[in-house]
Amino acid sequence: MSPAKPAMAMEATRETARGPMEEDAAGRPARNAEATTSGPEVRVSGVALRYETRNGPVQALADCSLAVSGGSFACLVGPSGCGKSTLLDIVAGLAPLQEGRIEIDRRPDGQPARLAVVFQKPALFPWKTVLGNVLFGLDAQGIPAAEARERARRFIALVGLGGLEKADPHELSGGMAQRVGIARALALEPDVLLMDEPFAAVDAQTRALLQEELRRITAHSGMTVLFVTHDVSEAVYLGDTVFVMSGRPGRILRTISPDAGQRDRSSGAFARLTSEIFDLLAHSAPANARPGARE
Ligand SMILES: Nc1ncnc2c1ncn2[C@@H]1O[C@H](COP(=O)(O)OP(=O)(O)OP(=O)(O)O)[C@@H](O)[C@H]1O
Ligand SMILES: [Mg+2]
Repeated sequence: MSPAKPAMAMEATRETARGPMEEDAAGRPARNAEATTSGPEVRVSGVALRYETRNGPVQALADCSLAVSGGSFACLVGPSGCGKSTLLDIVAGLAPLQEGRIEIDRRPDGQPARLAVVFQKPALFPWKTVLGNVLFGLDAQGIPAAEARERARRFIALVGLGGLEKADPHELSGGMAQRVGIARALALEPDVLLMDEPFAAVDAQTRALLQEELRRITAHSGMTVLFVTHDVSEAVYLGDTVFVMSGRPGRILRTISPDAGQRDRSSGAFARLTSEIFDLLAHSAPANARPGARE
């Protein structure tokens, strides 16, 4: 499966791209203040999706709305099965839009925004090497071969897999394969990066390094990020905005914009905010997902 999906599948009704943000809602310097352009705004309005299964319909999302400002980093947290991956797939144009709207700003040149996706399960081509997997999307974009190879190698090294360019996917651990998926998406230098629990299979030390790198790269590039995670601490640390989802059918319960103090992992403010989000999640899980419940 290709990591990037043409933006044709979605409506891009906002024609005007905005300039770089200088301040965020909390008044702190925006993380992309150094970026030369700000990525597209992504808006999800009233989205609903129902799966038809042999056991009857499953309402995954209902009236789900959120807006990710151009160039910002948004995290989506919610209980397992609440529809996070479904929502990401809809934004990516990989799942049908049954109800509601997805709007993504166009690029400053009027072209549809370029999207890249890091899937929850890395979908690598088993017959291609690590390098071949990262190169695939770059070749598809028509990037000259020498530049594509340089870029692919740079991002492979950045996710800590330098020296494994010639390895086959079956030789990689789950966390390594996930990092190839991350390198593949980042190498595309997309306008919008959609990430579905990208660090779930990665060890704690590598995860901390990758979080730092991701923050640095996305702040510098001005790309817009929608990042799904189960990890509340990760969401508060990384997110300019944290969207807290309800249990299924998923919708946004709360939108939080942590300030600099709340994002400092050693602060009491960080501990208080994460515990507040845990409480929200605990009370929003569907009854059959709470400990001790049976269906
Ligand atoms: N292809 C499908 N067919 C039928 N039901 C599905 C399908 N994909 C997801 N679902 C159901 O829709 C709901 C939402 O699934 P989804 O994968 O979006 O949740 P999630 O929030 O990403 O969960 P997790 O945190 O465990 O990854 C779940 O109840 C799931 O069982
Ligand atoms: Mg999921």
